[in-house]
Amino acid sequence: MTDPQLVLAEGVQRALAAAFGPEYAAEDPLIRPSQFADYQANVAMSLARRLGRAPREVAQVIADHIDIPGTVQISGPGFVNLTLADGWLAAQAAEQLADERLGVATEAQQTVVIDYSAPNAAKEMHVGHLRTTVVGDALVRVQEHLGHHVIRQNHLGDWGTPFGMLIEHLLDMGEEAAVAQLSAGEGNVYYQAARAKFDGDPDFSKRAKARVVTLQAEDPETMRLWHIFMNATIRYFNKVYTQLGVTLRDEDIAGESRYNAMLGQVCDDLQKRGIAVLSDGALCVFPPGFTGRENLPLPFMIRKSDGGYGYATTDLATIRHRVQDLKADRITYVIGATQALHMQMLFASARLAGWLPDEVRAEHVQIGSVLGSDGKMFKTRAGKSIKLLELLEEGEARAAAVVADRAYDEATRAEIAHAVGMGAIKYADLSVSHDSEYVFDFDRMLALTGNTGPYLQYATARIRSIFRRGEYDPAETRGPILLGHPAERALALQLLGFGAVVSEVGAASAPHRLCAYLFDTASAFTTFYDNCPVLKAGSEEDRQSRLALAALTLRVLTQGLDLLGIEVPERM
Ligand code: ARG
Repeated sequence: MTDPQLVLAEGVQRALAAAFGPEYAAEDPLIRPSQFADYQANVAMSLARRLGRAPREVAQVIADHIDIPGTVQISGPGFVNLTLADGWLAAQAAEQLADERLGVATEAQQTVVIDYSAPNAAKEMHVGHLRTTVVGDALVRVQEHLGHHVIRQNHLGDWGTPFGMLIEHLLDMGEEAAVAQLSAGEGNVYYQAARAKFDGDPDFSKRAKARVVTLQAEDPETMRLWHIFMNATIRYFNKVYTQLGVTLRDEDIAGESRYNAMLGQVCDDLQKRGIAVLSDGALCVFPPGFTGRENLPLPFMIRKSDGGYGYATTDLATIRHRVQDLKADRITYVIGATQALHMQMLFASARLAGWLPDEVRAEHVQIGSVLGSDGKMFKTRAGKSIKLLELLEEGEARAAAVVADRAYDEATRAEIAHAVGMGAIKYADLSVSHDSEYVFDFDRMLALTGNTGPYLQYATARIRSIFRRGEYDPAETRGPILLGHPAERALALQLLGFGAVVSEVGAASAPHRLCAYLFDTASAFTTFYDNCPVLKAGSEEDRQSRLALAALTLRVLTQGLDLLGIEVPERM
C-alpha cells in the first residue's frame, strides 16, 4: 500500500516538473489537511513569486498537469484541493489489512545509540527519570520497528566524589543493612545520612575523602564495596523498570564509571592537539559559538584545577566510544532540558575533536519537567520527594478502583489494573511534546475519556468486544472494504496515515505525534461506529467491510500503543 499523502505529493511534484521544468521535481508541494478536500497543496502560493505569475494561475497550471488517483479543485488564493477516489482508498485499505507491517516501511538500517533513563545512584530516582525512561523506551521501540539496530545505553550516574562518603556509610551501616535499604528504594535516606555525617563528623569526612582517592585508583577492596552499593541500587532501578515494562536490561548499563579509565587519556589527547587549553589551571575546550558574560568564550571544562574530572570529561569519552566502538550513525540523548547547554557544548567539542564526524547525527531529546498540581516540581503532599515504585503502585491501585465494578475474575482485574495504571502514566509522559512541562495528575491521566492512555486502551477493548459478540475473529477478517459512508471513508484515510506517522516519529524523535495520531484514529473510529452499524449492518457485504475496518483499526491502535510501550488488555 502507499501512503495517501505521499501519492499526492508525488503527483504534484510530477505536475510541477511537467509544467515548469525538471528543476521543480523536488519542490516541497506543501501538502496539508484541508477542510474542503482530503488534502490541499499550498505550493502554488510559494512558487508564484519565483515564477512571476499569479498564485491562482500557478494552481491552475498544476491542476492541468496533475495525474492522481482522485480529483483536483482550485479554491481561495491558490489552494490545490486534492480528493482521493473512494475505490483507490478502499483498495489501499485492503492492502494495509493484508500487510503485516500495516504500511510501516522498513528504513535503510542505521546503528542508533539511545541514551536514556540514566538515574543517579547517589540520589533518589525521581519522576524526571521516569520520563526520560518512558520517552527513551518509546524511541527504542519505534527505531527497532523501523528496522534500525538500536543500542540502549543506560548512562547511570555511578561515579564521582559522593561515592567516597556513600562507601564509608556502607561500612558504618553494615553491608546487609545498607543493601536492604538501597534495594528498597530508600536511596535518599541513605544519601542524606551519609551527607549529614560528611558535614558534621570530621573523622568521617576524612575517611570519605580518602575513599574517593582509592576509588579513582580502582583499588580492589574499594571496588568490591562500590559494587555492593551499585548492585543494591540497580536492584531497585530494575524493580521500577519491571513495573513499568521497559526494555532496559542490566547489559544496557554503561554508567559514568565505565569511562573512568579513559578520562586521563581524553584530556591528554585534546591538550596535545591544542583542542583543550589551560585556563586558570583548569583544562578547557572553548567550542566556537559559545559565549557567556561580557561575551567571553564559554569553557567546557574537562579537568578542574585540582586535577579532578567531571561530567564533561565522561561525556566526551562516552561519545567517542559510541562513535568509534559502537559505530553509531545516530546518537539520541534523552535527557532533561536543563542540560541543553551541556549537550550543545558536548556536541560542538566532540565535533572539534573529530570524535563526532559530520555524518553521525547527535541529538538531545530535551525532556521537560514534571510538575505537581501547584505548578512546582512534583513532590508528595508532605513535600518530600516521591519514591518512584510507590508512585507506580499508586497508579496501579487507582486503575484498579476504576475497573473495580467489572465482573471479571480477580486475576483478570489485576492484569487490567496493571496495564491501565502503567498505560496512563506512560501516555501522560508521551502525549505532550517531550520538551514541554506537564502536571502530574492521576485523575486526569486515568480518565476513560479524552486524550489518555486508558481511553485508547478502552477503544481497543471495545472493538474486540464487537468481534466477540458477533463471534468473528479479527485475524480472519478480509473485507472487501467498501467506503459508502463518509465516516467509513474518513476512517480509512486516517488509518492509511499510520506508516507516515511512525517514520516521522522516528525521524523527529517525537512520540507525541504518534499519540496524537492514535487519538485521532480512535475518534475516527467512534464517529464511524456511531454512524455505521457493524454487526447489524444492512447487508452481508457491509458487515464484512465494516468488520474489516474495525479489525484494521484494532491492529493499528494495538501496534501504535505497543510502539509507545503501552499494553492493551483484551477486555476492560
Ligand atoms: N545521570 C544524569 C542525570 O540524572 C543523566 C545522564 C544522561 N546521559 C549523559 N550521557 N549525560 O541528570
